[in-house]
Amino acid sequence: MSNQAKHIAIIMDGNGRWAELQGKKRVKGHEVGAKVVKEITTYCSNTKDIERLTLYAFSTENWKRPRLEVEFLMKLLDTYLKNELSVYLENNVRFEPIGDIRAFSKSLQKTIKMVEEKTSHCDGLIQSLALNYGSQDEIIRAINTLKDTKDDITAEMISNQLDCKCDVDILIRTGGDNRLSNFLLWQAAYAELFFTDTLWPDFTTKELEKIIKKFTKVERRFGGLK
Ligand code: IPE
Ligand code: IPE
Ligand code: MG
Repeated sequence: MSNQAKHIAIIMDGNGRWAELQGKKRVKGHEVGAKVVKEITTYCSNTKDIERLTLYAFSTENWKRPRLEVEFLMKLLDTYLKNELSVYLENNVRFEPIGDIRAFSKSLQKTIKMVEEKTSHCDGLIQSLALNYGSQDEIIRAINTLKDTKDDITAEMISNQLDCKCDVDILIRTGGDNRLSNFLLWQAAYAELFFTDTLWPDFTTKELEKIIKKFTKVERRFGGLK
């Protein structure tokens, strides 16, 4: 039997370089990147077997970027969510943010919660945007909620406290670097990893289809034998 890609996670990298290659400002790459998010989400919502799409949009480390770029990203996220609400609803997509959004402005938090609530009845694809997300931060927050438990802590207990409670099947990183940059370290324990040189604004549903096809043929052993 072939593998089913139920949970796909993507590190959407390469926006800045894409823009610079065209002599444009880095932020232009983020703008085009947001359009690709819409395309890939719609594609996944119409593809059998895919239940979850988790996209790395802003890491706990991305605050190190120049203030203007961070401000632009916050504004873009707000506009994206407001504009795309109708697309989420049309495609029966439920929006579920992960990460510690308490660091964002009150108004951005309000937009995030608004889209989460308005799509909470959707029972198609779950699209998670990782916002001020860091896997280490997520694990630390989970352990802190468990620290007063008298019993020994189990993997299941930790998993239940994470923002993202589902194991990843396919983890893709665009942009040519071969690293995880603090993304879903726990959940990707047995994920199949795909690294592509394609910069995120150039990523297409066609390339995603190819990756899924490759994935279906992989022999996943989970430590056992076939
Ligand atoms: C990914 O693209 C988007 C975010 C991290 C917000 P980058 O902005 O990291 O683009 P490059 O890697 O510098 O090209
Ligand atoms: C990872 O990309 C974070 C997101 C895609 C949101 P980065 O560009 O921040 O990662 P590094 O700095 O190359 O590791
Ligand atoms: Mg990058």
